[in-house]
Amino acid sequence: MASLLVVDDERNIRVHLARFLENCGHSVKTAETARQALDLLMEDPRFDLVLTDYKLAEVNGLELLRRIKHQTPEIPVILMTAYGTIENAVEAMKAGAYDYLTKPFSLEQIEHVVSRALEVQKLRAENRLLRDTLEERPLLDSRSSVMQRLLETARQAARSEATILLTGESGTGKNVLARQIHQWSPRSNHPFIVVNCTTLSEHLLESELFGHVRGAFTGAVKNKPGRLEAAHGGTVFLDEIGDLSPALQTKFLRFVQEQSFERVGGIQTIRVNTRLIAASNRDLAAEVAARHFREDLFYRLNVITLRVPPLRERREDILPLAQRMLQIEGLRNHRTGLHFSTEVEAILHSYSWPGNVRELRNAIERAVVLAGGDTILPDHLPDNLFRQSAETAVPSGPRNIEDMERELIIRVLAESATLEDAAQTLGINVSTLWRKRKRYKIE
Ligand SMILES: Nc1ncnc2c1ncn2[C@@H]1O[C@H](COP(=O)(O)OP(=O)(O)OP(=O)(O)O)[C@@H](O)[C@H]1O
Ligand SMILES: [Mg+2]
Repeated sequence: MASLLVVDDERNIRVHLARFLENCGHSVKTAETARQALDLLMEDPRFDLVLTDYKLAEVNGLELLRRIKHQTPEIPVILMTAYGTIENAVEAMKAGAYDYLTKPFSLEQIEHVVSRALEVQKLRAENRLLRDTLEERPLLDSRSSVMQRLLETARQAARSEATILLTGESGTGKNVLARQIHQWSPRSNHPFIVVNCTTLSEHLLESELFGHVRGAFTGAVKNKPGRLEAAHGGTVFLDEIGDLSPALQTKFLRFVQEQSFERVGGIQTIRVNTRLIAASNRDLAAEVAARHFREDLFYRLNVITLRVPPLRERREDILPLAQRMLQIEGLRNHRTGLHFSTEVEAILHSYSWPGNVRELRNAIERAVVLAGGDTILPDHLPDNLFRQSAETAVPSGPRNIEDMERELIIRVLAESATLEDAAQTLGINVSTLWRKRKRYKIE
């Protein structure tokens, strides 16, 4: 059931329409003038749809539409007009009308237009929820102290202009965090531009980043600004920066130092004001040591480094993330009431997730597709989740104390933020833990 507002100055039409729409299962209020309609909307902004006549006394329907769009922009408005001229219709659509109906119209017509508008409205609301759920809230909600500290630092860093380097295993959420940092920054109203250094050839990447001038190479038929220019005022996110070729590293270093560059084939120096965030799932320091990455560029990028921890180091987040993803998948598939069985929760919690949040997400998506009913069962999970829990599970039969101690240390280490935390949990001091780690050859 939706709640609708019908505005018309002819009493007959108001009553007739209201009765019809109520019979369709909606709750309907009516107004005679634009003033009344705006008052009603002010009182209760949860109307799902407004249906208004074009010709009203004093303020006409088009003007009412404009005011509604100003006051409560997300409510769709359908205009009814007896003057079915193209100009009216075009003007209405330009002013943001969802649709218009030309009088006389049939009741089927009106039912069709209304139900479609409501459907679109519902999808929009779901998309908003999806977006919020997927991109923002899970990150902000982390229950792990390591992750909470990281997010706090990220939030502070976001307010500065400092270059940020994001490291961490594949699938941990570096892209998600980069976008979040941009959103937290004073630049959030300006573009956030992602450039992936892996997917393009060196030549294409150079022109993608810096732009090119007409005739710079075959196929360069006109001047084209690059992504760094497109990000002016905003943030550019350089993903997988470890893959930048030596020549591009050199050109990029200059940009990082001076915020200026030339387009490919160009002579004019271009200056931009762009905030830089870079990410790599390789160990850039090691790349520097191996002489694959310029040391000076590394130090320029390494002003604030945020290491996004792998999922197995923040197990507290696994189930909340999984629940949220289940909710999203449910929405996507128009299924409500989906939940995990207790056994599934235990498996999700204990698995090591080498592919991190990405792997978790894939597993949940798959499970929702495979599950016939509302309960996600172990059968719906990918096989590798079991293989691994079998490896780490306690084998039956006689075992010696050392094996058990080794296992316990591995588990606690995986669940602790620091060596100190782990030592505390185990009730031994750090140097003892250190020695045991060495003895048992634990990485
Ligand atoms: N906190 C989170 N909440 C919900 N989804 C998340 C979260 N973090 C990551 N994801 C999802 O996990 C997947 C991987 O995230 P992302 O692409 O940011 O990882 P990455 O660290 O950049 O990986 P790669 O190194 O492979 O590029 C994406 O589908 C993303 O939406
Ligand atoms: Mg990434």
